[in-house]
Amino acid sequence: MEELINAALAAREKAYAPYSRFAVGAAVQGASGRIYSGSNVENASYGLTMCAERVAIFKAVSEGEKGFAALAVAADTTAPASPCGACRQVMAEFGINMVVMCNTKGERLTVTLAELLPYAFDKADLPEE
Ligand code: THU
Repeated sequence: MEELINAALAAREKAYAPYSRFAVGAAVQGASGRIYSGSNVENASYGLTMCAERVAIFKAVSEGEKGFAALAVAADTTAPASPCGACRQVMAEFGINMVVMCNTKGERLTVTLAELLPYAFDKADLPEE
């Protein structure tokens, strides 16, 4: 878990956040054991900004990872950094059930995705092809 947190903190240093100046880092561990990290990537057309959590998850999925142990997210926040709603739904899509929220002061809070996103929209309810 310390490795995952350190990867999130290191990714935060790579944030491209010239507009908000709010740097975020995230890391996920795939079933293969490999760790994928990501930072937020902003855009002058603000709505195109992508959160650190989704960058990390999409990197992992696009490299073929299918299962996940946990995700860590880190930012310079008063309380441990909490993922946005969109990222929570993306975590639900890929079964990321454990989230370690961290800040740069060294505080950590480990929660389940069910705590972060109760009554999540469930892909199992969609019709079969
Ligand atoms: N941000 C993330 O990367 N993750 C979150 O969970 C919340 C917000 C980014 C998006 C934007 O670049 C900046 O933080 C300010 O909202």
